[in-house]
Amino acid sequence: MTAPPAPGEPPVRRPRAPREHAPRFNADADWDAWPVDAYLRENYRELHPCDAAVIRHHAAVYRGIAPGSVASAVECGTGPNLYPLMAAAAACRRIDALEPGAGNRAYLRRQLAHGPDPAWQPFYDLCRSLDPALPPALATALSRVRVVPGALGGLPERRYGLASMTFVAESVTTSAAEFAELCRAFARAVRPGGRLLAAFMAGMPSYRIADGPLWPALPVGEDALRAVFAPLTASLRITRVAKDPTLPEYGDTGMLLLSATRPGPGA
Ligand SMILES: C[S@@+](CC[C@H](N)C(=O)[O-])C[C@H]1O[C@@H](n2cnc3c(N)ncnc32)[C@H](O)[C@@H]1O
Repeated sequence: MTAPPAPGEPPVRRPRAPREHAPRFNADADWDAWPVDAYLRENYRELHPCDAAVIRHHAAVYRGIAPGSVASAVECGTGPNLYPLMAAAAACRRIDALEPGAGNRAYLRRQLAHGPDPAWQPFYDLCRSLDPALPPALATALSRVRVVPGALGGLPERRYGLASMTFVAESVTTSAAEFAELCRAFARAVRPGGRLLAAFMAGMPSYRIADGPLWPALPVGEDALRAVFAPLTASLRITRVAKDPTLPEYGDTGMLLLSATRPGPGA
């Protein structure tokens, strides 16, 4: 305990322990500074069981869509993850990879211009084994993709026949209200009759990539997803994936996979 100041002396000001400023809202974090290489190393250098589960879930939906019948799709907050793009490439003639972070966009552009890193091939082999309408070469599948700078909040309503989102709305804010707003922007970007596909980390608090800074996240469960998506969708399905012990410890309890349709006539 510090002794109280003697009468007439100014109070002693103790230096504050340095405290990390943890971003809370989406705009507080510097998405241009996303640690692309460390993130790829931690998550996508090999095909983890949880990502295989996402691919199987999405392939079951894509197989039910006639090849080439979706004129334009969007993957929201693509980051450096190529597998949601490749999975969409039979059903969709064009796929916008929407991404606010400059480093992630630069990575995506390099992959499209110079050919994908060989680490992505096992992901594509699985996609193609589940959806034979995909072209033989991964580079051909990715030729449907264009990289688009931007964020969920700026998406025009009813622009796309299909939207997908992989570990984004719950992994970019600590605010439940902002999470819901991001999910609503995602859903509203799809035309009536169009499809929604998404994967969420379940129960994940703010997290670090390697020993980098803290990134904002909101622990969500099935109830939170139903609350935001049920009023905006039809045929809502949510599937739980068990926690993957081969991933780094992000504090999550597994994943939640979502598929739904926007109410209304065909896309
Ligand atoms: C946890 S990473 C997920 C990356 C990738 N989708 C994946 O499956 O690994 C979150 C991503 O969301 C992006 N992001 C952050 N705020 C966003 C927003 N408001 N709208 C869309 N994407 C956003 C980040 O730049 C980052 O690429």
